[in-house]
Amino acid sequence: MLNKKVLSKVNKLEGTIEIPGDKSISHRAVMFGSIAKGKTEIRNFLMGADCLSTVSCFKKMGVEIEVSKEVVTVKGNGYEGLKEPKDILDVGNSGTTTRLMMGIVAGAPFHSCIIGDESIAKRPMSRVTNPLRMMGATIDGRDNGEYTPLSIRGGQLTSIEYHSPVASAQVKSAILLAGLRTANEETRVIEPHKSRDHTERMLRAFGVEVNEDELSASVVGGQSLKATNIFVPGDISSAAFFLVAGAIVPNSRIILKNVGINPTRTGILDVLNKMGASIEIDQHEESEFEPLADITIQTSELKGITIEGDLIPKLIDEIPIIALLATQAEGETIIKDASELKVKETNRIDTVVSELSKLGATIKGTDDGMVITGKTKLTGNASVSSFGDHRIGMMLAIAACLTDESIELQDASAIDVSYPNFFEHLSLLSK
Ligand code: S3P
Repeated sequence: MLNKKVLSKVNKLEGTIEIPGDKSISHRAVMFGSIAKGKTEIRNFLMGADCLSTVSCFKKMGVEIEVSKEVVTVKGNGYEGLKEPKDILDVGNSGTTTRLMMGIVAGAPFHSCIIGDESIAKRPMSRVTNPLRMMGATIDGRDNGEYTPLSIRGGQLTSIEYHSPVASAQVKSAILLAGLRTANEETRVIEPHKSRDHTERMLRAFGVEVNEDELSASVVGGQSLKATNIFVPGDISSAAFFLVAGAIVPNSRIILKNVGINPTRTGILDVLNKMGASIEIDQHEESEFEPLADITIQTSELKGITIEGDLIPKLIDEIPIIALLATQAEGETIIKDASELKVKETNRIDTVVSELSKLGATIKGTDDGMVITGKTKLTGNASVSSFGDHRIGMMLAIAACLTDESIELQDASAIDVSYPNFFEHLSLLSK
C-alpha cells in the first residue's frame, strides 16, 4: 500500500462486504495452537501485519506453522515443545503479541528477548511484567521492565490472585496463560470492568477448564491444550469503520457479513442504537465458541450521547471512529473513563482530536476522553496523518468520504496492521 493517499468524497456507499478475521481471535488461535498438542487448522485468519508478527515469533520458538490464503496450520508439540529462540522475538506494532506472549514464555524454561517498533517501545508493560514477576518469572527490560526491549527467563510458576488495576484482556490473558504453568493451583484475575473474553472461550475450545464469573476468570495449573480447528469471525472492530460510514454518508446502505458479535465487543452496536442509527442484526445460529451475525446499516439521523463506565472496554478500539460518528450527530457526545486511549498504538485522545480538528470538527480532549459537538460539516483540503496507527488511518479515510475537497492521508500503510484490504472494500462500496 502507498504511504500517502489522496482521498475524495463519495456520493454514497452501497453493497455487501465480508469483514476480515478478528485480530484478537487470530492471535490467540496461533498462540494456543502453538502450545497445544496436535494440528490446529485456522480458517478466516487475519493476514494483517500484527497477526503475522505472532506467527513469526512462534516459528522462532520451533513451532511448525504453514500460512496459506485458505488455512493456517499450526503443528504444536505442547508447551514442552516450545524451544528457546535463537533470535529476538520481534512483535512489530502488536501489543497483543507482546503481552500474551509474555504470559506464555514466562512459563517456559528458557530465555527470550522481546522487541517491537517505535510505538511498542512507548507502551506500558509493567501491567504484565509485575504480575508475572509475582508468579516467579524473571523479567528485565528498559525502565525496570516497563518498556521493550524485554528479557524474560521463564520456568515453573506459582499461582496468584490478581486484582488488575485496568480492565485489559491482554493483562488477564497473560496471567491466565502463565497460570497454566503452575502446579495444580488456581490462578485468578479480577478486573474493574469485564474485558473481552476471547481467551476464556478459546481455552475451553482447546479443552482447558476455565472458571468465570462477572468480573473474574481463573484456571487451575497443569492443564494441557488439545489441538482443535478454529473459524475466526469477522472483526467487529474492523466492521465498525463501515458501520459508521454507512450511518453518516448520505443515501448509503451496507451489509457486513459474518461479523463476530461477542457481547464483550459489541459496544459499537450499543452506541449506534443509542444514537438512533438504523441497524439490523441478523444473528447466525450460535457458532462453536463465538457468535456471528450479518449486519445491515443505513444512513441515519443521529443524536449525541454519553459513553462511559462498563461500556468503555466493549468499544475501546472503536473510539476513534465513534468520534467521527459524533461529529455527524446532533448535540454533544461525551466520552469518559477512557484514559486507556493514551496508551494505544498512539495517544488516541491526542491523535483523534488533532486530526479531526484539521477537518473542522468541534472536538476537545479531556483527561479521560473527549467531547464532540455536532453536527458539523467536515472540510477537506487538509493533510492528515495516521501517525502509524491503523485505526486513526481508517477513521480519517472514512471522514474523507464526507468532505467536498480531497484529503491527503499520510502514513496510510499503517492500515495493513488490521485491515489489509480496507481500501479495496472502500472502493467496492463507493458509488
Ligand atoms: C486486545 C485487547 C485490548 C484491545 C487490543 C486487543 C486483545 O487491549 O485494545 O486491540 O486482543 O486482548 P487491552 O487489553 O490493553 O485493553
